[in-house]
Amino acid sequence: GESAAPFVPEDHSLAVLREAIKQCRGCDLYKHATQAVFGEIEDKGGHKRPNVSIMMIGEQPGDREDVEGRPFVGPAGKLLDRCLKEAAIDRLEVYITNAVKHFKWEPRGKLRLHKKPSLTEIRACRPWLDAEIDAMRPSLIVCLGATSAQGLLGSNFKVTVDHGVVQQLIGLPPIIATLHPSAILRAATEEDGQRQTETLVNDLREAKRVLS
Ligand code: URA
Ligand code: SF4
Repeated sequence: GESAAPFVPEDHSLAVLREAIKQCRGCDLYKHATQAVFGEIEDKGGHKRPNVSIMMIGEQPGDREDVEGRPFVGPAGKLLDRCLKEAAIDRLEVYITNAVKHFKWEPRGKLRLHKKPSLTEIRACRPWLDAEIDAMRPSLIVCLGATSAQGLLGSNFKVTVDHGVVQQLIGLPPIIATLHPSAILRAATEEDGQRQTETLVNDLREAKRVLS
């Protein structure tokens, strides 16, 4: 079946992976995206040795991310930044990536509307995620939203029920799942959005507690 495995180099250093993913044809999503969006540590200060302890995994790059080539730089990223700040998590502790590395979309007039990746695409892209986990060796994984959580924890996992609770899997660091900031931005009412934002912040606080 479709898989990124033949495109993932044995050398799992981030620089090597980041270069290699440009050639990935592990599924069809590369065809309609601008570029692969690999994970990164946001390091505006140019720190030489950020101390990464948390790996955050979103779903897939959005429209902005596809254009800029960096994860969580659009509206969802702005909301996530605010929540991290509220939970007193330093961005230099966080490596952020996505379950799927190419933007999947459908045209709606002039807009490119986000389209949920299929299970096949999530599975195809998994070797990149595994290589990132191997490269970063995070102490904790935070899954943002159901796509990312179910990719790691299985399709029966319910973020709405089991968010904020540490999950243990053999061969992986502890995992905490929480809501996806993009889902919060789509909340039906402002009140819902506020409640969900609080949930996300509380789950991030729990992540912080697990680390200390
Ligand atoms: N949503 C995601 O899941 N990932 C991004 O990088 C941006 C928005
Ligand atoms: Fe490769 Fe993942 Fe892009 Fe598919 S989505 S082409 S598996 S990097």
